[in-house]
Order: sequence, then structure tokens, then C-alpha cells
Amino acid sequence: MSMKFSGQVALVTGAGAGIGRATALAFAEQGLKVVVADIDLAAAEAVAKTIVDAGGQAFCVRCDVTRDAEVQAMLDAARERFGRVDYAFNNAGIEIEKGKLAEGSEAEFDAIMGVNVKGVWLCMKHQLPLMLAQGGGVIVNTASVAGLGAAPKMSIYSASKHAVIGLTKSAAIEYAKKGIRVNAVCPAVIDTDMFRRAYEADPRKAEFAAAMHPVGRVGKVEEIAAAVLYLCSDGAAFTTGHALAVDGGATAI
Ligand SMILES: NC(=O)c1ccc[n+]([C@@H]2O[C@H](COP(=O)([O-])OP(=O)(O)OC[C@H]3O[C@@H](n4cnc5c(N)ncnc54)[C@H](O)[C@@H]3O)[C@@H](O)[C@H]2O)c1
Repeated sequence: MSMKFSGQVALVTGAGAGIGRATALAFAEQGLKVVVADIDLAAAEAVAKTIVDAGGQAFCVRCDVTRDAEVQAMLDAARERFGRVDYAFNNAGIEIEKGKLAEGSEAEFDAIMGVNVKGVWLCMKHQLPLMLAQGGGVIVNTASVAGLGAAPKMSIYSASKHAVIGLTKSAAIEYAKKGIRVNAVCPAVIDTDMFRRAYEADPRKAEFAAAMHPVGRVGKVEEIAAAVLYLCSDGAAFTTGHALAVDGGATAI
């Protein structure tokens, strides 16, 4: 894959595993410097090492995206080390629900909203002033097809991802004339640890997950990374405020 990038530095949250890891590696393959951020420092370290061992430039930072001071410190570290952040992929997210709406707990609600919504909001809150000061940038937030429609037994998660799209669209409009684009990527079921935690215990569920997608399979992390890189690339210069479904046709049904 070859794309044109005017910028040089990418930051990825939740970069220690799954979609974030694949996207950090994809940015590095394009020659960008990568800030690898995750609450799991060992995982982030391993991804940064993979990039550096392959001849790229990366460093890792431990950041819990629910903590204002940690998000600020992550951006400070990025600026000190690489001077700027051209592309921010706000991807850290969790999914821990198991039942219908009335079976959810307050703790579940606070945890999911904390990471998925407050985390994305805090990241953008600190990234936007930096991008304004440097003259532009691109933000991509990870939503989900659960942010585009109903997700039975995942109502809090679905609400959190609808909120990510709301934050994305509002930020896109507010900063459209300032050289900053803001989009969301909406994966369907992707083969990651999150997917395996949810489906591996019951093979019938895995078959059901594959069948939800007209293409007949779940997605690959590299397929989401490719969409994120497209949204960041110069080829998407006229695309902002968009929630891009990358879903094997699932939302077309
Ligand atoms: N896997 C799917 O099927 C799927 C589908 C749609 C959307 N998504 C979204 O994609 C994103 C990535 O999911 P994934 O499947 O790669 O998950 P994953 O569990 O494989 O990886 C998530 C990463 O985020 C990190 N993380 C968790 N909480 C954090 C926090 N508070 N601060 C910083 N990092 C934190 C974890 O340590 C982990 O490395 C999430 O936002 C998720 O909601 C996933």
C-alpha cells in the first residue's frame, strides 16, 4: 500500500494490541514516526521495539486515556520527542457488557463511557490546540458499527460509540477551516483479543459473527489500519466529519 502523507508524526492510543497495534505498524511502514501509547506499558514497549527493530522511529508512553493529566503528558512527550503530532488515532476502547440494558451495572456504564467517550474527548481536547499551533493535523477516532445502529446486549457500548461519532462530527465542523480534519472509523467485528474474549468461549457465536458480514467472515486488523491511513492521507483531504464503516457490508443489509 502506498499513500501520500504530508505529515511526519503519528500518535496511536490503545496501540499495544489489536487494531491500534496494526495501525501503529502501518504508519511506521509508511515512514512516519510513531508515538505508541497504551495503558499497558509492556505491550506498548513491544510494539515500539518492533518498529525500531525494523528500522523505523517510535517511542512508547504509558497513558490511561481516562486521565486528563496522563493525556496531557502523552502529548507533551510526543512534542518533546518528535516536535509535533500530525496524525492522531484515538483508538483505545473497551467492551465489557454481557447482558441486556436492564442487566447492566453502574460500574460497567462508568467504565465503558470513561474509556470510550471521555478518553476520546480528552485526547481531542489536548490534540486540537497542538494541531492548531502547528498549523493543522488529522484526527481519526475509533467508533464502531455499534455507533451507527443498534447493538443488542451491548447498549452501553453502542451508546459510547454513538457518542464518539457525535464528538467526531462536532470537532470536524468546529475546526474545518483551521486545517484540521476529524473522522471516525467504524469497524464491524474484527479478529482481535477483544473479539476472541467475546466469542471464543462459544464457537457458535464465532460462526454467527462471521455470518453477520455479507462477505462471510470477520475483519482483519490490517483492514482497519488501511482505512485509518487512508483517512489520514492527503487523498482524503476533502473528507471530514465522516464516520466510515469498514464492515464487510454489514451495515448495508
Ligand atoms: N475488535 C472488534 O471487533 C472491534 C469492533 C468495532 C470497534 N472496535 C474498537 O476498536 C478499538 C480497539 O479495539 P481492539 O479490538 O483492537 O481491542 P484490544 O482489546 O485488542 O486492544 C485495545 C487496547 O487498548 C488498550 N486500552 C484499554 N483501555 C485503555 C485506556 N484506558 N487507556 C489507554 N489504552 C487502553 C488496551 O491495553 C489494549 O492494548 C476499540 O475502541 C474498540 O471499541 C473493535
